[in-house]
Amino acid sequence: MFAVHLMAFYFSKLKEDQIKKVDRFLYHMRLSDDTLLDIMRRFRAEMEKGLAKDTNPTAAVKMLPTFVRAIPDGSENGEFLSLDLGGSKFRVLKVQVAEEGKRHVQMESQFYPTPNEIIRGNGTELFEYVADCLADFMKSKDLKHKKLPLGLTFSFPCRQTKLEEGVLLSWTKKFKARGVQDTDVVSRLTKAMRRHKDMDVDILALVNDTVGTMMTCAYDDPYCEVGVIIGTGTNACYMEDMSNIDLVEGDEGRMCINTEWGAFGDDGALEDIRTEFDRELDLGSLNPGKQMFEKMISGLYLGELVRLILLKMAKAGLLFGGEKSSALHTKGKIETRHVAAMEKYKEGLANTREILVDLGLEPSEADCIAVQHVCTIVSFRSANLCAAALAAILTRLRENKKVERLRTTVGVDGTLYKIHPQYPKRLHKVVRKLVPSCDVRFLLSESGSTKGAAMVTAVASRVQAQRKQIDKVLALFRLTREQLVDVQAKMRAELEYGLKKKSHGLATVRMLPTYVCGLPDGTEKGKFLALDLGGTNFRVLLVKIRSGRRSVRMYNKIFAIPLEIMQGTGEELFDHIVQCIADFLDYMGLKGASLPLGFTFSFPCRQMSIDKGTLIGWTKGFKATDCEGEDVVDMLREAIKRRNEFDLDIVAVVNDTVGTMMTCGYEDPNCEIGLIAGTGSNMCYMEDMRNIEMVEGDEGKMCINTEWGGFGDNGCIDDIRTRYDTEVDEGSLNPGKQRYEKMTSGMYLGEIVRQILIDLTKQGLLFRGQISERLRTRGIFETKFLSQIESDRLALLQVRTILQQLGLDSTCEDSIVVKEVCGAVSRRAAQLCGAGLAAVVEKRREDQGLEHLRITVGVDGTLYKLHPHFSRILQETVKELAPRCDVTFMLSEDGSGKGAALITAVAKRLQQAQKEN
Ligand code: BG6
Ligand code: BG6
Ligand code: GLC
Ligand code: GLC
Repeated sequence: MFAVHLMAFYFSKLKEDQIKKVDRFLYHMRLSDDTLLDIMRRFRAEMEKGLAKDTNPTAAVKMLPTFVRAIPDGSENGEFLSLDLGGSKFRVLKVQVAEEGKRHVQMESQFYPTPNEIIRGNGTELFEYVADCLADFMKSKDLKHKKLPLGLTFSFPCRQTKLEEGVLLSWTKKFKARGVQDTDVVSRLTKAMRRHKDMDVDILALVNDTVGTMMTCAYDDPYCEVGVIIGTGTNACYMEDMSNIDLVEGDEGRMCINTEWGAFGDDGALEDIRTEFDRELDLGSLNPGKQMFEKMISGLYLGELVRLILLKMAKAGLLFGGEKSSALHTKGKIETRHVAAMEKYKEGLANTREILVDLGLEPSEADCIAVQHVCTIVSFRSANLCAAALAAILTRLRENKKVERLRTTVGVDGTLYKIHPQYPKRLHKVVRKLVPSCDVRFLLSESGSTKGAAMVTAVASRVQAQRKQIDKVLALFRLTREQLVDVQAKMRAELEYGLKKKSHGLATVRMLPTYVCGLPDGTEKGKFLALDLGGTNFRVLLVKIRSGRRSVRMYNKIFAIPLEIMQGTGEELFDHIVQCIADFLDYMGLKGASLPLGFTFSFPCRQMSIDKGTLIGWTKGFKATDCEGEDVVDMLREAIKRRNEFDLDIVAVVNDTVGTMMTCGYEDPNCEIGLIAGTGSNMCYMEDMRNIEMVEGDEGKMCINTEWGGFGDNGCIDDIRTRYDTEVDEGSLNPGKQRYEKMTSGMYLGEIVRQILIDLTKQGLLFRGQISERLRTRGIFETKFLSQIESDRLALLQVRTILQQLGLDSTCEDSIVVKEVCGAVSRRAAQLCGAGLAAVVEKRREDQGLEHLRITVGVDGTLYKLHPHFSRILQETVKELAPRCDVTFMLSEDGSGKGAALITAVAKRLQQAQKEN
């Protein structure tokens, strides 16, 4: 009995002495709580440095955006291939996610070796080897005939700009294949796979092993928002708020950040805690000077650290009686699995002896105890360091969420964590001590990181499928050159049709004579009133023209026309107009003055003279009753009479295209076309009288208001009209009419966009599938919003803000799609308009028998003026389709009121002359 006690005493004394000895020797490796808190603080600062745009380039901890934006929600499904390269084992897998609506993952896998000559040889050969293994796997699983998406777990630092791309920043751990750094590993592997003609694999996602691990664990525990690897290497990822990630556009939601914490200390930030053993180990590694933190922690290095320490202790005579074996001198002879075995609770000492003997040493009992304690100190330090960095991440998460207590789960994987008997316990304990305000659950990833990679791939493949659906819709708006040439030809035919007596009555492009026979010649003068009705704004103007100097002064006032007046009775409308005139005269101090008036009335009118115009039919947003078929000049006169306050001499009624042409023609006598691309779309041009069969006389020219908005009303462009155009038409005030206008003008483009958005939302491709009340509201997308959204200078966030102002709660992805939709719709509009214009200029060129035509187009309208791309695309199209015409576009700065006044001046002069005769 006594002997037993004595033995126990002896043993515990021996143990105590050995431990003391080792503790003294490795004093520097034992980190106090204060030191750990300090490291935690340092790591927090490193994270911030890596996240910020300015400091990222020099940051040691790279904080790489992964483009993984959400943890799995259970809706993932499909069959995927997966590669897992970079950990201790290389695996190829087939993953089946969610069978028959259940959360369920099935995996079949195969390990392949990664010999040093492959992972440290030529880069191209490495990828070819990987592709060969994949081919072999597919063959053995009979998958070669299938087209499968692939998720690549690639456990090295990669700079990603999208999910399916990653530029290798540097090799770490055991890999060092030549010519891979700074290249995109996805395209490298894709290229290598192309050698296998019978393989049809699409790499949809590149994920780091930390990300894969987090996703694997998150599939089972939705609280999981951190992934940690403590294996061959060490690293962590976590979900960061987008608003904190400078390197990626957008502020909404979160994105997983691969911290690459292994590089913590590469800038010297950990020099005070690194020991001589760390320095020696680093010098002998594949990547000296790199991965300082990793080299103090991970499985690839722990054994080696122990070996270096034992060697030094032996040399100092503190172990093995000063004896060293050649194995102890040899790099890599002690591995992490040895460290783990030596630290086993019960068999630890026996294992230690066995391992030391295997190393050719003759350890005493005391040596074994000491060596075991060396292992403990080294692996404890590893767990402590990991805990400090992890604690920093958890604190950041808690602060991001602005909560007092954080409940979260950390997904963990890696051989060191898995095989070391004490490691998890120690790590958990220290983390909880360092962040008492977090309730952390540690979840071991049982199935590696590929299950998570498959989740990411599943989402990516859903996104890809959705993208295809979106592209399909957008493709409807893409016109080929042939289609545009066809539109041009049809427009040309319609122009001719409308000019001919026998077909004029049925023509959809009405080709209305305007009785405007010449451009201003500079002799016009006088004071005129003008009305400008039918565009975005209703204006009353006073125009003073001075002859000789071609100078015009204008005063104008904008008046609102309430919707109920636009769509009320004709009498109400004209009374309202007269009321506005009265206000204006009052405002100008011209009460009672009787001035000649030019009436810009931007609707199709059949004219028999310059001062008579019978409204054929309302277009755009007007629908006042009892006006169609009536002379609008008469209606205005009667309204003036009804008011009985002043008299006006209505001299001319003018379409806005004509007014615009005249406004521009005053500056440029070559301006023989007027174009409006605004609320509505229309064009007028100077036609030879001999071609105008409806008007007597063959001499000179007359301006024709084409009213091309009605082009297509006979179905001739139905082949390019989409279901969205039909929808817009059916919901308009004039169904079946003005089909070309409805594809090209400001009043309708936003409506087309809205219809597309509704459809995409119904298909679940936008706004989370929720059609909001706002989206159901007709007219929410005005031209100005379309123009804003499409502005190149606008960041995505601003697009989102605009959409939010419109009451559409969009994500960043939604905003991208909305912008694309707007772009497709406005582009088609500009091209169609260009094709129409090309038809006219070509006609003019041919009619005059010219090889080349030089002509100016006077243009007005909010779409043309405000939209960032419309005018350019329109001009490009005209150039393309009418290459022999040199067309100058002249923006009408003063609106069509000026032109109307000029026309009035000429008409007045003619009136006068007639009277005098
Ligand atoms: C595996 C994962 O389980 O763990 C790999 O599937 C990961 O993706 C690896 O790289 C990390 O551990 P180790 O010890 O193999 O490097
Ligand atoms: C204005 C003209 O500048 O442009 C109007 O003065 C014309 O006559 C209008 O109708 C067309 O553009 P919008 O975009 O206002 O319809
Ligand atoms: C290395 C790699 C990192 C990986 C880790 C764990 O640190 O650089 O990308 O996550 O090892 O495998
Ligand atoms: C509508 C009108 C037309 C006008 C055009 C531009 O198409 O019918 O007369 O010129 O809009 O405002």
